[in-house]
Amino acid sequence: MRLAIFASGRGSNFGALLRAKADGKLPAAEFVALVSDKETASALGIARENNIVAIHVSPKNFPTREAYEAEILKQLEPLKIEGICLAGYMRLVGKILLDAFPYRILNIHPALLPSFPGAHAHRDTLTYGAKISGCTVHFVDAGVDTGPIILQRSVPVLDDDTEDSLAARILIQEHQAYPEAVDLFTRNLLRVEGRRVIR
Ligand code: GAR
Repeated sequence: MRLAIFASGRGSNFGALLRAKADGKLPAAEFVALVSDKETASALGIARENNIVAIHVSPKNFPTREAYEAEILKQLEPLKIEGICLAGYMRLVGKILLDAFPYRILNIHPALLPSFPGAHAHRDTLTYGAKISGCTVHFVDAGVDTGPIILQRSVPVLDDDTEDSLAARILIQEHQAYPEAVDLFTRNLLRVEGRRVIR
C-alpha cells in the first residue's frame, strides 16, 4: 500500500516507521511521500535522506483549509497514494482529505483517547492528575482525535514527571505502536464496525 506521511515537526514517528520498514516489519507498506505544513520540519530532511518525495505546502498561501488540502491532493495525485499516516501533523484534517481517503487516514496521539485530545496532551494529562497515560493510534474523522481506535499502549505517570519526561516515556511506546498499527492497516487486517476497529 502506497502511503504518504504527514508531519509538522521532528519526525521521530516517521523515522520509526522507516526503521520498521527497513527491518522487514512492514511488508505491505510503501512510504512514498512526506507532506509537511512547516518548511522547517526535520521530517522533510528525513524524507530527502531516504529518497522519499518531500512536499511542503504552506497553509498560509491558501485562503481556506479546502484550498490548502486541494493543493496537497494535487501534488499527491501522480504518486497514487492509497493511505495517509499523520505523524505529529498538528493541523485538523478537513473534508477534502477525509473524502479522498475515507477510513484511510491514521493518526498517533500521545494520550489514551478519549482522554486528553488536542495539541497539549502531556500537559493536560499532568494537570488533570491522571496516573496512567499512553498513546493511541486511530482512524481520523472530522473531529479532534475522535476517530475509531486501532490500538493503544499505556505507560505510568510518575509523581515527579514533567511534560518532557512523560512525553519521552510515551514516545518509546509510540515508536512501537505506530508500526504495528500501520502493518495491520496495510495488510488489510482492520475492519471498522461503528466505533470499533476489529482485527
Ligand atoms: C508525537 O508525540 C505525536 O504523538 C504527537 O506529536 C509528536 C510528534 O513527534 N502528536 C500529537 O500531539 C497530535 N495531536 P514526532 O514528530 O517526533 O513524531
